[in-house]
Amino acid sequence: MVYATVYVTARETQLLSGSATEQPVAAWWETAVVYQVYIRSFRDGDGDGLGDLAGLRERLPYVASLGVDALWINPWYPSPMADAGYDVADYRDIEPSFGTLAEAENFIAEAHALGLKVLLDIVPNHTSSEHAWFKAALAGDQEARARYIFRPGQGAGGDLPPNDWRSNFGGPAWTRLSEANGKPGDWYLHLFAPEQPDLDWTNPEVRSEFEDILRFWFDRDVDGFRIDVAHGLSKAEGLPDFGAQPEAPVHLEPHPAWDQDDVHEIYRGWRKVADSYEPPRIFVAEAWVSSNERLAQYLRPDELHTAFQFDFLRAPWRAKAMREVIDDASESAAEVGAPSTWVLSNHDVVRHVTRYARSQPGHLVESGWDRSRWSDEAPDIALGTRRARAAVLLTLALPGVSYLYQGEELGLYEVEDLPGNLRQDPTWVQSGYTDPGRDGCRVPLPWSGSEPPFGFSSQAGSAQPWLPQPADWASLTQESQERDPGSMLSLYRTALGLRATWLVGLTPVQWIDAPSGVLAFRRGAIECWVNTGSDEVEVADKEVLLRSVPAGAAGVLLPDEAVWFVES
Ligand code: NOJ
Repeated sequence: MVYATVYVTARETQLLSGSATEQPVAAWWETAVVYQVYIRSFRDGDGDGLGDLAGLRERLPYVASLGVDALWINPWYPSPMADAGYDVADYRDIEPSFGTLAEAENFIAEAHALGLKVLLDIVPNHTSSEHAWFKAALAGDQEARARYIFRPGQGAGGDLPPNDWRSNFGGPAWTRLSEANGKPGDWYLHLFAPEQPDLDWTNPEVRSEFEDILRFWFDRDVDGFRIDVAHGLSKAEGLPDFGAQPEAPVHLEPHPAWDQDDVHEIYRGWRKVADSYEPPRIFVAEAWVSSNERLAQYLRPDELHTAFQFDFLRAPWRAKAMREVIDDASESAAEVGAPSTWVLSNHDVVRHVTRYARSQPGHLVESGWDRSRWSDEAPDIALGTRRARAAVLLTLALPGVSYLYQGEELGLYEVEDLPGNLRQDPTWVQSGYTDPGRDGCRVPLPWSGSEPPFGFSSQAGSAQPWLPQPADWASLTQESQERDPGSMLSLYRTALGLRATWLVGLTPVQWIDAPSGVLAFRRGAIECWVNTGSDEVEVADKEVLLRSVPAGAAGVLLPDEAVWFVES
């Protein structure tokens, strides 16, 4: 398949070949744009309705054509899929429904040949309950048992859980086991699903095993890892009660299960492993913590290279809130010499087209917040899409790393009306069917054609995709957007091409005074203006490099529009 090149005017061609040589040179991982591949929903190569390595390899040229620098692949290891692969049964192999280890090795080589780095996802907080270690623990192997967190219950007969911690997916974070004699026994900790028992990171065997897993993949040329629940590995000594007990996730508050100081020693060890390779390998942390000061601790020079800046995706579409997040994030990362890592969407949160399609709160929100409002307010997808176009220009103009979640380049929105019986996220069941969970942002990509399954599989007569796609994604297929210079896909390609020329390096943001509701800043030769308000704003008539509303007017910033200006 031939992918359209960036749609540009003659002046844009000239600008694309311009240079910004005065910018300081940064390492690749400090300024990379990384494309997140949620493999089970990316592309089905063997016709079973589930994305796989064959599909990903087939569409690697598409990823390269976007102009990104790297891919991050969600877990691809053998898994019973209690939590979509975040329940790993074997960290050194490939899930059979995704492919084989040999295919994975070929994929890594092919990505590199296209100039793309490859980041994998490591899941160190917990294994699958089907992992050999946990199975041995259940069979009574005491050494294996000591790698997990088993405790006697409280109360008469040990009938109450050892403490008051709640699972992130709802319900208690403890499950009680039956002993070999059939009597109720100890409880084990699982901060997520019961099929995801937490490991005990005070056990040196756990530490050396994970360093060895890192080496296994680094030896196969993997460029780095995204670290799942990086803030969860160390628990407060004695596993004390949390106390005040909200039903909602609590990882943004100080909590004895999360963000404990001991965790940093683990990452110092990991950094040494990564630095022992040539070129050195890198990490990005998924760490939901209570402040950017706490986040910066993970980014100290002898720890992790980068960490997702989740305040950015928790921010409402409001200039003031966004500016505060950008400043706070940049200042605290700069204090430890790290870049910020911007992210608008991923496989755990409501897609940002939909987040921006409803009335905006005045404060940062919890990641699942938008799901709780579905019945209250119908989303205005046209508005959300317009804001998403502006948001990507804002994001890509910021210094540091940007992560793009597959499908955002097509303008996909959250699928909110999936039937309950098709939902697979454990959140749906564990919350007692009150939280619909994250399936709505995980619906398989629409590639071509005018009706579902939109060419999701490359095989004729394939099974239906594992989740159904909405019929009106016909206008959002990759194929239809390739032909449309005004599409979201064309905007992403153009913006990424221009960023590579004009927004290189780590030059910090210099704010420009702007009317209320407007964000405006300069980086090098570029000015980025974003109007989050509902009124038009007059701006000086400068040379436009790119605007999110193609039909925008000279001298005016339209509502929910972003413009990149260039010094002429
Ligand atoms: C964070 C992952 O992104 C999410 O999808 C998963 O459910 C939890 N960690 C548990 O591994």
